[in-house]
Amino acid sequence: MSTFKAPKGTYDLLPPDSAAFLAVREAIAAPLRNSGYGYIETPGFENVELFARGVGESTDIVTKEMYTLTTKGGDNLALRPEGTASVLRAALEANLHKAGNLPVKLWYSGSYYRYERPQKGRYRHFSQVGAEAIGTEDPALDAELIILADQAYRSLGLRNFRILLNSLGDKECRPVYREALQGFLRDLDLDEDTRRRAEINPLRVLDDKRAEVQKQLVGAPMLRDYLCDACKAYHEEVRELLTAAGVAFEDDEKLVRGLDYYTRTTFEFVHDGLGSQSAVGGGGRYDGLSEMIGGPALPSVGWALGVDRTVLALEAEGVDLRLPATTDVFAVPLGEEARRTLFGVVTELRRAGVATDFSYGGKGVKAAMKAANRSGARFALVLGERDLAEGVVQLKDMASGEQEAIPLAEAVAVVRGRVG
Ligand code: HAM
Repeated sequence: MSTFKAPKGTYDLLPPDSAAFLAVREAIAAPLRNSGYGYIETPGFENVELFARGVGESTDIVTKEMYTLTTKGGDNLALRPEGTASVLRAALEANLHKAGNLPVKLWYSGSYYRYERPQKGRYRHFSQVGAEAIGTEDPALDAELIILADQAYRSLGLRNFRILLNSLGDKECRPVYREALQGFLRDLDLDEDTRRRAEINPLRVLDDKRAEVQKQLVGAPMLRDYLCDACKAYHEEVRELLTAAGVAFEDDEKLVRGLDYYTRTTFEFVHDGLGSQSAVGGGGRYDGLSEMIGGPALPSVGWALGVDRTVLALEAEGVDLRLPATTDVFAVPLGEEARRTLFGVVTELRRAGVATDFSYGGKGVKAAMKAANRSGARFALVLGERDLAEGVVQLKDMASGEQEAIPLAEAVAVVRGRVG
């Protein structure tokens, strides 16, 4: 061990477990690529103001969880705590929305940073794959995104997840509800912090996990009863499209997300095998975000799925994504000259598309064969001094133990045929 450890709240991805992370990222991306989403990559940090305005000044993410820094040049930056504000910033900056082809559909995959209290499933550095559809108000777009996430999870073999669905209303009806809720909350017996939250972001109080708060919330005005006709119709259409697609969901009128930009459709994917950090993914519509960061009106919708938690959910269900060994052939040279010749064969095999590894470090035959075994290769290609003199190489089937001498000059063609 060195003097250093991975920083608190972070962990390293190591083989063979890292294979599951790659598989999850690919499985989430595949349906997006197949549905008109283009890949976008933005910097790992942004001006802190983008998140303050975008994600919301009153959210935990902005007030407590951002990694901020001031550069030598005096810029105030933050490591990105989420992807939506950055993706919208980038799309606006590049005028993607003016290319005349709305919605602009983008997907991304990367690292995000939140200074949270670490526990299982909650880290300070974590990984998301996300999708954003920018510039169009259409319930089918909301439905599309939820259907694609469902498809991604199912393709991985995940089963025990649920989709929670809600509507948060729009700039017409939400303020009316907000006021009604605030009136209700002012009459309750709440601690100082919660009172303050009720004034800044009353919907978050509904989300309070404490029993003494929940008890008092019985009878609180519900947003559902305040939705305007347009929001109601929109939400009903999303629900019908999901039902028609055979995607099961649960209406959860208490679903309030931890970011301020949401309007109308909001949803979360939760997995019951994960304990308290049960949200494997989440998202929703954010019709006002573009204007909040200085852009034109661009109604949009998106989600991000957590790769770390999806891997934990798969583990909880006993789905093993550690793919079988990828090495087909393991080459074992015995002696200096054999080493040079066999290394040449290995290079040619690789160029011919055969997954090949080599015994390095001048190991003896026993240690080398052990390494061949560990690699999971189907064949070992063993070249000794005598083989070399005879112009052959030994091809050993690792499963049966059978061995045959093949002409060295034809080794690449023969092995390629066998591996085929
Ligand atoms: P979010 O709900 O904050 O939404 O994060 C999405 C997912 O990222 C969570 O469901 C969870 O799986 C994972 N995640 C979040 N924080 C952590 C953490 N500390 N450790 C491990 N995993 C974590 C967003 O980020 C929005 N930008 C989603 C969105 C896209 N909305 C519209 N478009």
